[in-house]
Amino acid sequence: MTNKAAWLTAAKARPFKVDDAPMPMPSGTEIVVRNHAVAINPVDWAIQATGMFPLPYPAVLGLDAAGQVTAVGESVSKFKIGDRVVTSLDPFAKKDPRRGAFQLYSLAREEGTAKLPDSINYSEAAVLPLAVSTSASALFQEDTLGLQLPMPNATPTGKVVLIWGGSTSLGACAIQLVVAAGYEVATTASAHNLDAMKAIGAKFVYDHTKETVADDIITDLKHLDFGGAYCAVLTTESIKQCAKIAREFNGKKLVQTVLGVEMPFPEGLPEDIAFRNVYGTSLLENEVGTAIWGNYIPEALAAGSFKCVPPPLIFGEGLDAIQGALDRWKEGVSYQKVVVELP
Ligand SMILES: NC(=O)c1ccc[n+]([C@@H]2O[C@H](COP(=O)([O-])OP(=O)(O)OC[C@H]3O[C@@H](n4cnc5c(N)ncnc54)[C@H](OP(=O)(O)O)[C@@H]3O)[C@@H](O)[C@H]2O)c1
Repeated sequence: MTNKAAWLTAAKARPFKVDDAPMPMPSGTEIVVRNHAVAINPVDWAIQATGMFPLPYPAVLGLDAAGQVTAVGESVSKFKIGDRVVTSLDPFAKKDPRRGAFQLYSLAREEGTAKLPDSINYSEAAVLPLAVSTSASALFQEDTLGLQLPMPNATPTGKVVLIWGGSTSLGACAIQLVVAAGYEVATTASAHNLDAMKAIGAKFVYDHTKETVADDIITDLKHLDFGGAYCAVLTTESIKQCAKIAREFNGKKLVQTVLGVEMPFPEGLPEDIAFRNVYGTSLLENEVGTAIWGNYIPEALAAGSFKCVPPPLIFGEGLDAIQGALDRWKEGVSYQKVVVELP
């Protein structure tokens, strides 16, 4: 077994350089995964293009992988060599290239990994990791929106949660998690994605391109108890729309955004509403990670109740395709996630 990676050789360097990489050795609760599909996230593009989040170079980017376990640390209890898994990686928190997805073998954590049923292929599964981790961190931690956790047959809360941007990959996972936690969901997307939002559990759907969208949501749903607002779109306008809605509802005057923890809030936000940010893999350090990656996701994938959405847009094959895949993401996606297969 030898490893190869798509290396980011220096800040803003492009294209990635495909070259040999050390084979990671797991210890403790770490596992090594032979990646068979990896997905592209906005932060991968942003780091290469802008140099944000200074990293030691050469670096390996990528947070989403699905593949097969090839080695396990001495404290791993849930996985064995040969298991098919999907895993939420984080090469940034520890600034460790072994933890990046854009290579053949990545160092993963048991805490952020779920077994895959045979019915789900690697490319389908690769769309999930950062979207599940970020949305679950944003929705269920005490320092974020603090919703009730998802569970099989959750008791209905009678509350509605607003998810702005249901057709983002974060939003699509959030809809499913929030419904599984016993809330009703109101969401926004382009008109052509509204049926897809209903198919994954959203009860109330609105076209975000309509000028009256916030007023329509307020008029239609104001009589309901409000569980909170999650803005999965990172524009000032979207955050303001969520604040306008949260103000009118009877419930939490809080907008949970997807701003990273080191990013400043935009100027001009209203002062009567609280705004929160989130670090996408923070759940791996607390009980929410155990509840989501340890329990809920593997069970719901096996039961078919949690769908791998948005669908993968399979850009190509092999580490040489990673650069083109990032460039493809930059052209824009609509309820799709760009995936590269690594046979
Ligand atoms: N804090 C963190 O740790 C963290 C982690 C991951 C991601 N993020 C951030 O979260 C955001 C979402 O990431 P993602 O990967 O899920 O994005 P994505 O899937 O690439 O987002 C694409 C979608 O955005 C939707 N969209 C664009 N403008 C919109 C608007 N004004 N209102 C509603 N929907 C709109 C489009 O919907 P339609 O096609 O239906 O119009 C499209 O489907 C990004 O800004 C990303 O940087 C933060």
